[in-house]
Amino acid sequence: MMKSWLHKHVLTLSNFSIDDYKSVLELTERFKSLNNAGTKKIPALQGTLITSIFFEDSTRTRNSFELAAKRLSADVQSFSPSSSSLSKGETLIDTALTYAAMGSNILVIRHSSSHVPLEISKKLDASYSKTSVLNAGDGLHSHPSQGLLDLYTLIKFFSPKSLKPEILNSKKILIVGDVIHSRVARSNLWALTAFGADIILCGPTTLIPEEFTDFVNSSPPNQLKDPISSRGSITISRSLEDSIKYADAVIVLRLQKERMMENLLSSIKSYNESYCLTPEKLSLNNKDIPILHPGPINRGIEISSRIVDEYSNCLINDQVSNGIPTRMALLYLLSKFND
Ligand code: CP
Repeated sequence: MMKSWLHKHVLTLSNFSIDDYKSVLELTERFKSLNNAGTKKIPALQGTLITSIFFEDSTRTRNSFELAAKRLSADVQSFSPSSSSLSKGETLIDTALTYAAMGSNILVIRHSSSHVPLEISKKLDASYSKTSVLNAGDGLHSHPSQGLLDLYTLIKFFSPKSLKPEILNSKKILIVGDVIHSRVARSNLWALTAFGADIILCGPTTLIPEEFTDFVNSSPPNQLKDPISSRGSITISRSLEDSIKYADAVIVLRLQKERMMENLLSSIKSYNESYCLTPEKLSLNNKDIPILHPGPINRGIEISSRIVDEYSNCLINDQVSNGIPTRMALLYLLSKFND
């Protein structure tokens, strides 16, 4: 399985092949089974040093990466920008190189600007460092571990007894909300279309420009070709009431008020009326479809509390718990890259 793993860094899902996805998914399943069987900690990464470098706030990603590293018996060190030498003028690239020089095997990096993890990985490679970079979310670009844990969560919903990624083929996955500011949505698009899911993006024009229908058709920068030969489609709907009728699953996105640089919405109230997922809108679909949200949630803005607290197929907590074995899988694969 791991013979085919060729990534020193995980910065995006746009360069993932089907074998790459399967390596992560199968390891996730194994780590989750071990955990469910009561084996909380295994010695797989004893002697490996993992550094979490978060320049932007996080609850889920940071804590589950750190827990995943500890469950694999790795040593974990944590960088805190407010108490670091950034205040003395040290650059973030020099900060990363400092941790690499301490012997860190994997830098788990989050930054509010797109491509910071890529720039750090280039600098490390140019200095012949063996240290890997794992992107924990960069600007509007990519959040690969979230894309993978969402992929795993959806596959397990549709095939609970086994792991059948092909179950997603032709499933209609509705992604609702603030797509333009969402690195999670971009990673979801790469991962879900790779297994043939058809995506409906739903939201106002200002948050979902028409160009998104071509998102997975044009090769991203720094990449010659798409390793996936055939992908599911991406269409856009401006009406949640219309599109929810056809959905097999819904991913609700957070309205990212902190990234709203321009006046992209006339009012939160009108957004809420049209696009907040409520039990009334959900009842237009006559199946018990799964609802996902990457978190953090804005209750009553993009999703109703009654769905979060009372709807049995709301999978938000499953996403959080699946994040730990997914991140164990990524850390394990990267740590073995240089073995
Ligand atoms: N989903 C997600 O990235 O959450 P955090 O910002 O809490 O890590």
